[in-house]
Parts: sequence; C-alpha cells; structure tokens
Amino acid sequence: MIKFSEYFSCWVHEEYYAKGVKIGREGDFYTSVSVGYLFGAALANYFIRLISKSHLETDCAVVEIGANDGAMMADFIQGVYTLAPELLKSVRFIIVEPHEKLISMQKQTFSERFGEEVFVEWVRDLDELRLDEAFVISNELFDSFACELINGDEMAFFDENRGIIWDKALPKISTAASSAGVLKGEFSPIYREFARKLSRAVDSGRFISFDYGEWAHRGDFSLRIYKNHDVFNFFEVENLDEFFGTCDITYDVCFSYLAQCFASEGWRMSSYKTQASALLGECAVTELVEIIQKRGGENAAKNALKQLKYLTMPSFLGERFKFIEFVTGVESC
Ligand SMILES: C[S@@+](CC[C@H](N)C(=O)[O-])C[C@H]1O[C@@H](n2cnc3c(N)ncnc32)[C@H](O)[C@@H]1O
Repeated sequence: MIKFSEYFSCWVHEEYYAKGVKIGREGDFYTSVSVGYLFGAALANYFIRLISKSHLETDCAVVEIGANDGAMMADFIQGVYTLAPELLKSVRFIIVEPHEKLISMQKQTFSERFGEEVFVEWVRDLDELRLDEAFVISNELFDSFACELINGDEMAFFDENRGIIWDKALPKISTAASSAGVLKGEFSPIYREFARKLSRAVDSGRFISFDYGEWAHRGDFSLRIYKNHDVFNFFEVENLDEFFGTCDITYDVCFSYLAQCFASEGWRMSSYKTQASALLGECAVTELVEIIQKRGGENAAKNALKQLKYLTMPSFLGERFKFIEFVTGVESC
C-alpha cells in the first residue's frame, strides 16, 4: 500500500508528463500557453516594465519551471526580442526540467523558432541553481504537485488490488494538513519544500505563477481527470487503471496555503488577483496589443485580441485562474 501522493506522483511525473504529452487542441486540456503567443509575450512585457522601473536589473535571470514543450519560454523570448532586444545581450534564460524527453522537446521548439540565435540553459532541479537575481515564471505548475487526500482524521492510500483505501492519517500529514486548514480535500505537502528550494536558489527577485484555484481551501475534493478534453470526477471513475498515466489528473490550488509556505521561506506576497486582472494590470496587455497593431497591422491585432478574449474571459481562463506573485531579497523589505 502506498500513500495517495506517491500514486499521484507516479501517474503524473513518472508516466504522463515524462512521456512528453501535447497540451492544447491535440492534447487532454488547454492552458493559457496553448491559446497562443500572447500569454508568454505579456509576461515578457511585465518583465520589461519591472526592469524599466528598476525593480529588476538588466542582467537578471529568467527561470521557467514546468515548461512542458517550451512554448511559453519561446513566446517570452520572442516578446523580449520584439519589445526590448538590447536585453537579450544581458538576460540569462534558464529552464528547470527533470525529464529528458521534455528537454529534447524544448530544444526542438527553440531551434525551430530561433535557430542558433538564442541561448537557453537547463538544470534538472532547483538545487543546481544559485542566482543573485531571478524572475521565475510558471503556469499551471502547482496543480501538478503530488497531493494527499484528507477526510477528517483519515487519508487515502492506494493498493494495487483494492484501489483507493481510506485509513487513519499519518500523524505528520494530519498535523500539516490541519495547520493548512484542510479538513477535507487535497493537501500538497510539497509546496513548503518547493519554497525552501527556491529560497536557496534565488537571493533576490520575483516568482510569479498562474493556476486554477481559490484563496481559501474549498473544504471538499476537486480531484479530476482530463482526457481528450472530457472531465471526470476522480471518485466516480470505476476503472482507474484505464486512465492511470495516460491522461491528466489535477486539482484546485489553495493559494492561502501556498502564500503561507512561501512566507515561511522569506518570500513576501506582492500580488494575488485573477488572471484577467494581472494581464490587464501588471502585464499591460492592451498596450502590447497596440504595439502589435502598429507593427503587424490589423490582422495581427485581430488575432491578438482573439487570444486576449480567451485569456480574460471569466468563464474560461480569466477568473477561475489566479495570478500570484512573491518577492524576495532587497525588494521584499
Ligand atoms: C499542467 S503542466 C503545465 C505546462 C505548461 N506550463 C503550460 O502551461 O502549458 C505542468 C508541468 O509542470 C511540470 N512540473 C511539475 N513539477 C515540476 C518541478 N518540480 N520541476 C519542473 N517541472 C515540474 C510537469 O512536468 C509539467 O510539464
């Protein structure tokens, strides 16, 4: 019998993502990255705005965690190239990627998009990084972190023959879940360890993330499976073996717990809002669309506006997805 988090980790990390899956129309689900180039370009616009206001230095490293095929980093680099090309001489681009298959996919994306013109670095784990200053970016990272399932004083285990089994929660997990305010639902013990690693890797800078979820824990389960754009309630699936490792399993992120974990490692939360509000605010995406219109013409602007609509639509990605930002080092004081 193994803890549910081990089962989840095997499903998602050792099987599903390790294979190099497609995200978007041909995959199991959409993300903001799969909508088009605008999302990554908008993050680049935010980065450039931060530099112009002296919140970041021009030799800051841009680090992506959870890059999948590298499309968001490629859109980000393209954005920097278009909006502030002089920065390409000083900024380092780094991807944290444990899977060989994904590193190959990412290398292919960069070579198709930029040939030999852009230099990107890879590390397998945050432990390999020691940076004076970084702008760390991620999209839908935390909803793939292994979680436990908690129900009162019980937690879920997985048995090969019997499937999901509920039994008395291990004391360490029970204590950590109740201090996070989770009495029923998913609880990820990994956030804290992740924040600790990030603190060791980065002396000063910002971490931004977009993900599906709410500030407070919803007090219930949200665990679900996405297969070919159909959604299944995890607890209603009869034969889990049919789904295991071949499609996505995910759950809502509890942002208050994430903020608690980052705060305990010295990261101050500087913003928490809907995706729509961050794109229109921090990322100044309408300004970006105007630049696209000036340089690319009406069709380019129409295409960008179509992407913006999907990214900000309340019922699609705009409100159910949240933006969270943490600051550490000089600026956090
Ligand atoms: C839901 S996918 C999102 C992919 C992409 N960011 C997007 O928005 O289309 C989650 C990604 O995070 C990666 N991931 C999860 N934990 C990670 C970690 N600790 N370090 C690096 N990548 C991680 C997974 O392998 C997967 O590629």
